Amino acid sequence: MCGIFGCIIRDGKAVRLITDGLKRLEYRGYDSVGVAIVDEGQLQVRKDAGRLEAVVNELKINDMKGKVGMGHTRWATHGAPNMVNAHPHTDGSGRIALVHNGVIENYMELKEELIEKGHNFVSRTDTEVIPHMIEEEMKSDVGLQVAILRVLRRLRGSYAIVVVTSLDPDHIYCARFESPLVLGVSEKGTYCASDVPAILPYTKKVNYLRNGEMAVLSLEGYEIMKVSDGSHVERGLEEITWSLEMAEKQGYRHFMLKEIYEQPNSLRNGLRLQEQYVNLLTQFLDRGREVYLSAAGTSYHSCVAASYIFSKLSRLTTIPVVSSEFIERYGSNVGIDSIVLSVSQSGETYDTLKAIDHARMRAATVLGITNTVGSTLTRVSRAYIIQQSGPEIGVAATKTFTSQVLVLAQLALRLAKMRGKLSQDEQDELEADMKKIPDWVQMTLDMCSEKTKALAEKYVDDKLFLFLGRGVSSATALEGRLKLLELTYVPALAYPAGESKHGPISVIEDGVACVFICPRSETHSHIIGSIMEMKARGAKILAICEEGDEEIKRLADDYIEMPKGIPDIISPIPYVVPQQLMAYHLAVLKGLDPDKPRNLAKSVTVP
Ligand code: F6R
Repeated sequence: MCGIFGCIIRDGKAVRLITDGLKRLEYRGYDSVGVAIVDEGQLQVRKDAGRLEAVVNELKINDMKGKVGMGHTRWATHGAPNMVNAHPHTDGSGRIALVHNGVIENYMELKEELIEKGHNFVSRTDTEVIPHMIEEEMKSDVGLQVAILRVLRRLRGSYAIVVVTSLDPDHIYCARFESPLVLGVSEKGTYCASDVPAILPYTKKVNYLRNGEMAVLSLEGYEIMKVSDGSHVERGLEEITWSLEMAEKQGYRHFMLKEIYEQPNSLRNGLRLQEQYVNLLTQFLDRGREVYLSAAGTSYHSCVAASYIFSKLSRLTTIPVVSSEFIERYGSNVGIDSIVLSVSQSGETYDTLKAIDHARMRAATVLGITNTVGSTLTRVSRAYIIQQSGPEIGVAATKTFTSQVLVLAQLALRLAKMRGKLSQDEQDELEADMKKIPDWVQMTLDMCSEKTKALAEKYVDDKLFLFLGRGVSSATALEGRLKLLELTYVPALAYPAGESKHGPISVIEDGVACVFICPRSETHSHIIGSIMEMKARGAKILAICEEGDEEIKRLADDYIEMPKGIPDIISPIPYVVPQQLMAYHLAVLKGLDPDKPRNLAKSVTVP
């Protein structure tokens, strides 16, 4: 996620604080860097792709004079990581500079409107429309504050924005909706930042902007107003008691935990996909003679989940395959009519890229889903979707899994509509259910945080786990198993529950932990049967079930209750969350570092 730091200071050069502030936000991950300063009434912007230190040295950023300015580290969401797409972006006159963290959903229609009015755009970002919109509003002589408020009211999506401009060199304007922004004041000056660590050296008293608020910063402090009606907001300061290291993790003990709790937000962004790309991928999927879903690790599990979703919603048979097996298993069959949809958080996984190379050589159509703009996967895919999870620092994938499943589910729903496979009512209901996913995940976090901690204490000495689920929940079980295995190093198996009696049941003896994933579904009675089979052989049953599912609760030794009403077909997204938390707490109890499991790398770029 992008890092933002802005300041107005009494003495010295603002740029020194800006580059220091950006340094403290580096942990968020970024691909390019930029700074805008107003000096003697002139706006200056310097930016480029690369690491902070290199860009600052190369562009002599620290030589910039002026007491008002802002900086940005960009994590690309639209447009490749290069100089043109780096922030700040400016209006046509070069007098208004803006940085942004978030996703503007309706930027295409806003851009078309502006192009018709004669605006020229240089980047491929969603952000660039905003300074141009401000410029356009300024033509009606309303003043900067009103112009910005009007623009903000037209934006759909998520944003934390900061504006500096030579039109008003003594103020900084900033606003937020869903992406964080925090304000602070010290004797030295006034600050805004996307995250507390950037401000922490200057003050420990901060004001968190809330959704739908704008703030105007000056040397004297700041004024907060509501975007909806411009009315004044009065709010006291909050004292930060975190160390710098804690602040980087927003008070969480580990990045993994922070990322688990970020999921409602990352999923909200995952619902803001660009229509034209969703349509494009859907059309390709529709045309394929056969569709392979190729990925590794957690991304493969999202493909397994997707194979059920495509089949149930769009009546499309897909073949999930671990990338390292793709060539051996299907390589000779792949041809001009084949579609290979590759899913990779990093977009750089060696095995996945190898599979793609092979598919391209045989003239297949390669599509991509990735979290990383500019990655190799985006360059070699015919069309791709960015999953919008934001950077994931914990080595174990958490929020990127749930976003991948959400993207794949949206593709399946779009294809179902295109093929006329669902009734209007079914479509409407599923669409509404997809929109509820971020809230269901939030409710899950609220409901199971304490419970998973307590259960981890109970299960910490267990030596073997078996994860079972039926239908799409067999994918949830696979991912639960992988989280436990990689974080705690405890042997674990995962199977479709119906398969358990064909072998895995032999490992069951008194006290073996058996995790059952049991959302309400047509296979509910079969899951109950499997639980009884395992219980009869002495297994300790931990069930993840819907709130009020008394039958399961009666049978289980322990249970984690989930929000009511989650449709089975999209259940992997919320139902994986308690398993992520259990694995996390078990690792911590065992004294292991959940952010850096042994022998694992975030991106596996070697054979
Ligand atoms: C598991 C995990 C790995 C990755 C796998 C693929 O927690 O993180 O299994 O899922 O290495 O990585 P990407 O998605 O970058 O291709």
